Amino acid sequence: MELTNKVVLVTGSSRGIGWSVAEAFAKKGANIALNSRSQMAPEKIQAIEALGVKCISVTGDIASYEDATAMIKETEEQLGSVDVLVNNAGITNDKLLLRMKPEEFAACIDVNLKGTYNMTQQVLKKMMKKREGVIINMASVVGLIGNVGQSNYAASKAGVIGFTKSVAREVAPRGITCNAIAPGFIVTDMSNELSDAVKEQTITQIPLQRFGDSQDVADAAVFLAESPYITGQVLNIDGGMVM
Ligand code: NAI
Repeated sequence: MELTNKVVLVTGSSRGIGWSVAEAFAKKGANIALNSRSQMAPEKIQAIEALGVKCISVTGDIASYEDATAMIKETEEQLGSVDVLVNNAGITNDKLLLRMKPEEFAACIDVNLKGTYNMTQQVLKKMMKKREGVIINMASVVGLIGNVGQSNYAASKAGVIGFTKSVAREVAPRGITCNAIAPGFIVTDMSNELSDAVKEQTITQIPLQRFGDSQDVADAAVFLAESPYITGQVLNIDGGMVM
């Protein structure tokens, strides 16, 4: 898809990978809808506008179907229908399974997996009519290989991968692509929560011997949006961790 003047909605885009993704699409000339659970800082909107494109922020929790409805409606009213949806927002809630409470398991599923359903299901209606659209879902290498203390997160991200492939098959006849990105260890607030010991251990498993940057993931998202013959794929951005 040629991205100039297209409408790109990126969930969880106040910081980290989501912010880099939003900036990368703006640099390609796309108009951006930022999303956060709380009011977006005006400086963020101004920073995107400074790239010469329109930018709005839509506030809401992707785990809520009603919030998703409202955010998509607001984007359509202010910018036009969504051409590219990047389901980036996600949470971790790490604990060994034996100690994990039902609500701690459910939290990851609700945001990471159900949130992806809530947003995708509702933008697809317009994309199907237009016979054009791009869905990009943020999975994780943990959804492919698992991780101690992350059974809830891994289950949600493996779910995102299965969801991506099923949706890709459903919408392909309408020219819509749906892919997943599986980041490895990317330096953000989320990964900074890990202890130094875990970080040191993780780096030994990365053939390129360094952590990734959110720009590495943003570049992959733009690449997938611009690639009309790639669908149903999981693109690992992980320094070679999973191969
Ligand atoms: P982050 O924690 O820095 O940013 C996540 C953003 O999502 C935050 O702005 C947060 O407020 C927002 N968010 C969380 N729950 C939300 C909800 N219910 N509704 C709306 N927004 C919500 O995380 P980071 O590292 O930028 O991760 C982005 C995505 O990449 C996540 O899906 C994460 O699982 C995935 N990922 C990150 C990796 C890493 O190493 N940082 C590795 C693999 C996957």
